[in-house]
Amino acid sequence: MEMRFVSTGSYLPEQAVDNEYLSGIVDTSDEWISSRTGIRKRRITVGEGTACMAAKAAAKAVARADIDPLDIDIIIVATMSPDNFLPNTACEVQAEIGAMHAVCYDLSAACSGFVFALNTAYSFLKAGIYKTALIIGSEVLSKMIDWNERSTCVLFGDGAGAAIVQASETGLFESVLGSDGTRKNSLTCASRYIINPLVSQDSNSTDETALDYIKMDGQEVFKFVIKTIPLTIQQVMEKSCCTKEEIRYYVLHQANQRILESVSKKLKEPIEKFPMNLDKYGNTSAASIPILLDKMNKRNMLDRGDKIILSGFGGGLTWGTTLIEW
Ligand code: ACO
Repeated sequence: MEMRFVSTGSYLPEQAVDNEYLSGIVDTSDEWISSRTGIRKRRITVGEGTACMAAKAAAKAVARADIDPLDIDIIIVATMSPDNFLPNTACEVQAEIGAMHAVCYDLSAACSGFVFALNTAYSFLKAGIYKTALIIGSEVLSKMIDWNERSTCVLFGDGAGAAIVQASETGLFESVLGSDGTRKNSLTCASRYIINPLVSQDSNSTDETALDYIKMDGQEVFKFVIKTIPLTIQQVMEKSCCTKEEIRYYVLHQANQRILESVSKKLKEPIEKFPMNLDKYGNTSAASIPILLDKMNKRNMLDRGDKIILSGFGGGLTWGTTLIEW
């Protein structure tokens, strides 16, 4: 059994924040941000949470697929910014869209999350366990950012993207996934520290993991991505016996325009094959690939049979490159 994309959906909060606005908050400029990253605007939520945006993106994907929500067997939400420890985001989406026959859980793999979730769904579909999966990436990164820290607050945005995939007789799916926990410090965001009657409060106050905003070694991440991603793209092409000429698009995590340009150069593939929307939405982590896929789908850029490479990379470190046939 193989897998097909049936539909997509996305939801972006209404409030757009441009680089000019950020220049009023921190010592930065439109020129610095756009020349280093390609980002000009991002959407920032003023109330809607991760589950709410996920459910809105999911509802659009369900409506476009023209399926009964009761036919969804599994919902996986990729997120590193859930609203709550409990319940998980996927259960909240389930309740909202009425997918009462689905098993629901979240998956945390930072900006690789959507590709990892897709691979998890594929495994269930391929094995014949489930027929229909709803995969979502949803993030409220604005709550994880130190808005006084210019090196990170200019990079991220909020949003959600969703896709419905179904088991199919035909299709193509090849992946290279990986993780390297020894490089965990390249991208971090500590959550709660351990609080219980056995731990004194004082011991926490000196613990540097108590810093609870996104911290990033930007140059380290840059080097990791431009070394790893072209290699994994070549590996999936070899595994699937596809040539570069057969690949219609490289849909990469929308972290940074310079990263995408470097990957395009390394692969000797035209930048036109690397669609981008990071100028409008910034880096939305696990949501960036499904949001971009949805925008491409709505613009009729995707035709049945197109071979597309999806690639996510980020904290962990984690990375995942998957070749799909649309
Ligand atoms: N505005 C103005 N100046 C800034 C800003 C800003 N927003 N941010 C940093 N600077 C300054 C720094 O303070 C520093 O000043 P100094 O030289 O006086 O000390 C100078 O710019 C250079 O800082 P760097 O951090 O070295 O900047 P760099 O050139 O590396 O650019 C960037 C930063 C764009 C993040 C780059 O490292 C990069 O592209 N990294 C790739 C990783 C990435 O995009 N991560 C996104 C999230 S992770 C992910 O999604 C996988």
